[in-house]
Amino acid sequence: MGHGGNVINELVTDHREVEELFGRIEALPPGDKDRKVYAEQVTMELVRHSVAEEAYLYPAVREYLPDGDAIADREIEDHSRAERTMKDLEGREADDPEFDRLIGMLMTEIRSHVADEEENLFPRLLQVAPAGALDDLGEKVRRAKRTAPTRPHPSAPDTPPANKLLAPGAGLVDRIRDALSGRGEKD
Ligand SMILES: [Fe+2]
Repeated sequence: MGHGGNVINELVTDHREVEELFGRIEALPPGDKDRKVYAEQVTMELVRHSVAEEAYLYPAVREYLPDGDAIADREIEDHSRAERTMKDLEGREADDPEFDRLIGMLMTEIRSHVADEEENLFPRLLQVAPAGALDDLGEKVRRAKRTAPTRPHPSAPDTPPANKLLAPGAGLVDRIRDALSGRGEKD
């Protein structure tokens, strides 16, 4: 995270990082405990990436593309589907056959989302959106990711947002999303 260039460069680099983690999972035999470790890492990357896209990319898509509303709605639907898969994945250990099915499903969902963005959406946006606006959004995405939590930090349980990440009850996906979007900050 925190790469450089305009918003499209930034998000494409995120995609490559996610694909690298998928590759590591695929390279390990079913049941290997590290598959779960990488699945949790990829979940954190994907939630952070989705929140950034929803906050900064899709509003620009709606603004600059004539069919932007329909595209943004469809991409957000893709995110919700992947998020449900990640939530289901949270409760499964690496030696559970259901883990293998769910991680396979997540890879299929994310790879098609990535291909769709990189082959259709990003080239179109690049053509119509002012370069300065895309640079500005790149900076905003980087700033959002810098302040975003990476992992629960047990040494600082009283300092937000770490305390939210450690809050019992909610799953990993919800905790990351809430901490990133500031949701629940007032309770
Ligand atoms: Fe993306």
